[in-house]
Amino acid sequence: MKTASYAQSFSRAAKEYDAYAYLQQTVARELASWIEGMECESILDLGCGTGALWRALRFKPRFFTGVDLSMEMLDLHPQDPAIRLIQSDFNHPSLYEHSYDLIAASSSLQWSRDLAQSFDLIAKSAQNVAFAIFTSESLWEIHDYVDSHSPIPSKERIESLLKERFAGEFELKRYPLSFPSRVAMLSYLKGSGISGGRRLGFAQSKKLIQSAPFERLTFEVLFFVGKPLKADQK
Ligand SMILES: C[S@@+](CC[C@H](N)C(=O)[O-])C[C@H]1O[C@@H](n2cnc3c(N)ncnc32)[C@H](O)[C@@H]1O
Repeated sequence: MKTASYAQSFSRAAKEYDAYAYLQQTVARELASWIEGMECESILDLGCGTGALWRALRFKPRFFTGVDLSMEMLDLHPQDPAIRLIQSDFNHPSLYEHSYDLIAASSSLQWSRDLAQSFDLIAKSAQNVAFAIFTSESLWEIHDYVDSHSPIPSKERIESLLKERFAGEFELKRYPLSFPSRVAMLSYLKGSGISGGRRLGFAQSKKLIQSAPFERLTFEVLFFVGKPLKADQK
């Protein structure tokens, strides 16, 4: 999947995103609760979107940098003297020239074009990291029904990439969402941008719209909080 395709998906969804993204807001609040107590002065938020993590943080850091590919999402981010917003791919090396007390990412790193590269860059300049990453088990109902594969990495792959570079704590959480109808379920998928712009084929979409026998979707999120490994730990 090309970067441009999912950036466009989030840009299209930006105006409706906050209304639909209650799951991502729940995930951001959960991640924020892991971060409480770290009292970091500087935070880099990768794929910050409309600012779910900033809003969820009860303590506000002195310096908060939010990075996102989509200008439409950044336009809806809260403004504050502590906040600097950058429109960029989070795999751009120039973002990692400074050191940050914490590099965080909530509901975004699953869309990295190259997750190993993202983690390498992050490990270079973070004192601490806090991630919530959707896994390939998310939306398994849809993938099973239309016989497609998730475009996002598995829990095993994310875990093994993390363990090669960081030491810390993992927690896997499942979030089932129920909808009053199939139409409600499908409009949620569109409005939240959660499918990342991945288009099903015509026959697959038709099958889903006309006859999906479920009105429930499950999402799986891997939480990780830790620190980069020191040279003698690798
Ligand atoms: C599901 S939203 C999550 C936004 C926010 N962190 C939240 O919790 O609501 C994913 C965000 O990641 C951004 N994104 C996806 N791939 C990106 C990339 N390679 N570089 C920067 N941002 C990216 C999208 O534009 C979108 O705003």
